[in-house]
Amino acid sequence: MFRSFLALALASAAITPAFAQADVIGSGVAPSTAAHSQTRPINFAATAPTSGALVILMRNATLPAKLVDATTAQALNAAIASAKFEGKEGSSLSLRGIGGYARILLSGVGEEGDRITHIRNASGKAAQDLRDEAQPVTITGGLNQDEAAAAALGYAMGQYRFDRYKTADRKTPPTNPVTIVSSDAGSAETLWKSRHAALAEGVALSRDLAAEPANVIYPETFVERVRAAFGNTANVKIEVLDEPMMRKLGMGTILGVGQGSRRPSRMMIVEYRGAGDTAPLAMVGKGITFDSGGTSLKPGAGMWEMKADMSGAASIMGAVLSLAKSKASVNVIGVAALSENMPGGNAQRPGDVVRTMSGKTIEILNTDAEGRLVMADANEYVIANKKPGALVNMATLTGSIVGALNDEYAGLFSRDDKLAAAVTAAGTATGEDVWRMPLHKNYLDDMKSDIADIKNVVEGGGPGAGLGATFVGYFVDKNIPWAHLDIAGVNWADRSGPVTPKGASGWGVQLLDTLARNWK
Ligand code: BES
Ligand code: MN
Ligand code: ZN
Repeated sequence: MFRSFLALALASAAITPAFAQADVIGSGVAPSTAAHSQTRPINFAATAPTSGALVILMRNATLPAKLVDATTAQALNAAIASAKFEGKEGSSLSLRGIGGYARILLSGVGEEGDRITHIRNASGKAAQDLRDEAQPVTITGGLNQDEAAAAALGYAMGQYRFDRYKTADRKTPPTNPVTIVSSDAGSAETLWKSRHAALAEGVALSRDLAAEPANVIYPETFVERVRAAFGNTANVKIEVLDEPMMRKLGMGTILGVGQGSRRPSRMMIVEYRGAGDTAPLAMVGKGITFDSGGTSLKPGAGMWEMKADMSGAASIMGAVLSLAKSKASVNVIGVAALSENMPGGNAQRPGDVVRTMSGKTIEILNTDAEGRLVMADANEYVIANKKPGALVNMATLTGSIVGALNDEYAGLFSRDDKLAAAVTAAGTATGEDVWRMPLHKNYLDDMKSDIADIKNVVEGGGPGAGLGATFVGYFVDKNIPWAHLDIAGVNWADRSGPVTPKGASGWGVQLLDTLARNWK
């Protein structure tokens, strides 16, 4: 088999060596064939084992009743008193040598705020604290069904790791299970399997896509990865537009952004119908698999982060995956506008004029303002072809929003107060907070071009995030409720959060999942 394949390869190479050579982009050598990092399987049980690593989720300094035997409880209470541990949100106390346990970790939930979110967070933090713990892990704390499922979700998100390219000094990831203890273990497990596990999978998909380098994830491989994640999930339809198809549709903005790259652009449309004939919620994401700035080249420092300039598209696909795999009663359409923004002999130049699918024209004054360009064609396509009831955009659009909100909030821009309120509520409920920013009508006046309908930047700056949002909104039908989330900043965690290890955050998967379930 292998020998005949080799013979075939040699024969075809002999016939068409030039062609075979031209097919190789880059070195042609993949950086790794290693499988994705292993994680602990998640189980549920009604009682806790008396060995291994035990995590107790604590609301305050009082140990929940009947979790451990009397002697262990006595030792724990002494430790709690001596360490002045109060169970405050985000606090923890690691203990060894108590009872039959290899380790006991007290993780604070606190008494204020949303209990479910805090349990998710305390469990996520425990997962990170126990990252290199070889022992099986038990999570307990008098958890009911919803709390136990939330603890499972938190653990799943917190134990995420991206180390598939490490071949040296790579710690073997623990694969012993984590067991969540609940008196409602059966129904908690059902809830986890039917819903939360899909959400965790969506978050991991988004993180993987963003964390992967741009020599691995480019438009075509983004499509492949997302396709593989969906497998044959029911009620899902996937369409992919290639460059000839997009040219036929007059998509001059996405094709223009991609024309400096050897990697062809793609538009990926994933439709999940779980609610009959109701108008779908459309979610369109910026999918720049690498943003070098193009001819308007970015400075070198920090440019590597632009491998994650497809985070908006990644989180949208993660949210659609979660909704579809959990069989949510919603209709959603996720669109990924996929291009690589590179300088090159055929790259577009400042001063170029391009035409969008809508027929409107754009004067490009800076090729680094490319996200708004690809969004224009993608929004137009979904509005013209899918008649959505509302449209949400997610994009790492501007450095300016990072200056305004850092990574505490994503910027929300909307012309529709009802949709803005729903997005804000979904953000608060999931801990993915947004802050609403203005769309002043003067912004559009400032973007008038001398020779085309609109220009893509205002030279000399101005309110950068607002101008970018204004540009995107200019191409969206005023009758459709529209919201745009500028996620540059929140898409990448420079330091770890409770359920977000340092790196690609998967920001927005949870927010969009909740928004889709609650909208209308
Ligand atoms: N992808 C960037 C925005 C970005 C910056 C994301 C930092 C994450 C971190 C975007 O394409 C971009 O380059 N925007 C320019 C716009 C400018 C040319 C008007 C920016 O923000 O500088
Ligand atoms: Mn850019
Ligand atoms: Zn960009």
